[in-house]
Amino acid sequence: MRSMGIGIVAGAMALRAAAGTVSLETLDLKLMSGGWGRAIANQAVTTNPLSIGGKAYDRGIGTHAPSQWVLALDGKAAEFRAEVGVDAQVKPGQPGSVEFLVIAGETEIWRSGVMKAGQPAKSVRVPLAGVKQLILEVSDAGDGRSHDHADWAAAEIDFAGEPPKAIAAPAVPEEEAVILTPPAPKSPRIHGPKVYGARPGKPFLYRIPATGERPMVFAAGGLPAGLDLDPQGGIVRGTTPPRGDHKVTFTARNAHGTAERTFTIVAGDTLALTPPMGWNHWYTHYNRITDATMREAADVMISSGMADHGYQYVNIDDCWMNAPAVGKYQRDPKRIGAERRPDGTIQPNTYFPDMKGLADFIHAKGLKAGLYTSPGPLTCAGFGGALGHEAQDAKTFADWGYDFLKYDWCSYGRIAASGSPTDPAIPAWDKGPPTLAGYQYPFRKMGELLKRQDRDIVFNLCQYGMGEVWRWGAEVGGHSWRTTGDLGLERASRLPGFYSIGLRNAQLHEFARPGAWNDPDYILIGWYGNAHGLREPEKAPLTPNESYSYMSMWSLMAAPLFFSGDMSKLDAFTVNVLCNPEVIEVNQDVLGKQARIVRQTDTELVLAKPLEDGSVAVGLFALGRGRQTIAVSWKELGVAGPRRVRDVWRCADAGTADGEWKADVPRHGVSFVRLVPGGARP
Ligand code: GAL
Repeated sequence: MRSMGIGIVAGAMALRAAAGTVSLETLDLKLMSGGWGRAIANQAVTTNPLSIGGKAYDRGIGTHAPSQWVLALDGKAAEFRAEVGVDAQVKPGQPGSVEFLVIAGETEIWRSGVMKAGQPAKSVRVPLAGVKQLILEVSDAGDGRSHDHADWAAAEIDFAGEPPKAIAAPAVPEEEAVILTPPAPKSPRIHGPKVYGARPGKPFLYRIPATGERPMVFAAGGLPAGLDLDPQGGIVRGTTPPRGDHKVTFTARNAHGTAERTFTIVAGDTLALTPPMGWNHWYTHYNRITDATMREAADVMISSGMADHGYQYVNIDDCWMNAPAVGKYQRDPKRIGAERRPDGTIQPNTYFPDMKGLADFIHAKGLKAGLYTSPGPLTCAGFGGALGHEAQDAKTFADWGYDFLKYDWCSYGRIAASGSPTDPAIPAWDKGPPTLAGYQYPFRKMGELLKRQDRDIVFNLCQYGMGEVWRWGAEVGGHSWRTTGDLGLERASRLPGFYSIGLRNAQLHEFARPGAWNDPDYILIGWYGNAHGLREPEKAPLTPNESYSYMSMWSLMAAPLFFSGDMSKLDAFTVNVLCNPEVIEVNQDVLGKQARIVRQTDTELVLAKPLEDGSVAVGLFALGRGRQTIAVSWKELGVAGPRRVRDVWRCADAGTADGEWKADVPRHGVSFVRLVPGGARP
């Protein structure tokens, strides 16, 4: 510490009286969060000398975005100064890009703008009179944290009185977990999509999602030949009728009334006409998944009411097959063994004794079964992949009765780089940079194989957005494609990780359409596992408002709705977030449009999704540090005339509006409304 009045002093008592300048690297850097490594004094985060845009600094702090540090002041400090930028260790052209922010209390007082490698440092000099809390933040500038080495060089504060002190980031204010979704009435209500794509002549299975007291009796007017309805269970089974649109009228009746809803079976080539909905085991059970846990999840999908709201896929992720050897994620000897049987068939591990039996169990409830593999020799967790056995595996999965396949790039990276003797057609990259053909090859191959099977299999591409998969995912046979890396691994900065993943996915709105969806990964609310330590489930670190915002964003983005939390720990609040019929209706709308970004700033996000009935679903998201008023004008939305405002979460009308919609939105919360053109709601 450099002190003007009294020189360098050891005793805290002496400092109290001082006016001086503190070099910030002398404060507690353990309290500075970062996206990689740890914040370090007088060095870049990589421990190289501090250097920005060719200029070296002997003092300062090296960190990595996303990063945050909170300093307590006494209101008498005079000025904060620093030279900021991307550390010179990152070379121009590498993806590192960051933004530095200085926040006084709740108010942002300085921001650097996006800074990239090679750029000269920017100087920040801001007065601090009256400031009691100063927050130094580095964001990833919206493009992920790769290579985001950020330097606060020569950072210092002039103080008078109490010297600045680093403190732990303030705890999130307590919020009550208010349940907004009204309880389903006792009388029947039929939910789910209005259109459903299936291929002519293939097995058909659909459980009519309906809430209301049981027993309930179902009927289906106009059901095409070849399909049968189980009137008690409300499950339609049989063979998909010939090509064309088949309009069916479902009715559900119980002691309290009757409900009716039209449902169009679009017999053709396109599956997933609305975003698929279900549950995936990954973020809760990781490498501990068993047949018994999958069956329990299917049971809970019914007993919790999730299936009555349209959730239908019960999907196994990685780790159901044998692993050839012990590794980081496969230490359990009961999951290790031969990857294939003598005839080449994939070998499930001992926790999955009967893959067909499991699919049958799920189907008996009217639900669908999904599984996972990789085009590479191994899955991401080191279990047996499909390389060289693609045709056999596609057929095995279909014979077992699976309805959904997640195909995860993983170890295929090695094959893409150097080729494979089992398939000389693989366009290898060893003579140059990655090519589009190389990215597409394994997915196109599996996509074609799945189409040849005698059942409908929804195909989810998992390759984290490489080669702009949203531009070609549908062309190679995909029905959805992950647009980013794993949401569960996304480190939170000021905002939880789902925002940064969601915001990246939101930019791709023009690519989503029926049968072709951007997939920003699963819904992680309630209880789920720990992605880093593979520990037992723990509570999601989200406030109630953040949980509402998460589900609202996924609904508006027409994202596949896959919960990946713990089905055995579903609490009432989590069910309320997952199972709001009007939130799901926006997601499942027949037009299949993904919301466009109307406005995005550091503190606000406005999304708008056009719906089939001429209404617009709007989400006003508060991203700032407290409650805020957010407005959107009709001009921004491209609509005219008075609109009825439907509060989607409360399933209630909220008056009419003309010209603009404005709402008071709580911290990290959302106002999610449907602006309906005049007249009564259909
Ligand atoms: C990742 C994938 C995750 C999960 C995991 C399994 O690559 O993105 O969603 O499937 O592999 O190992």
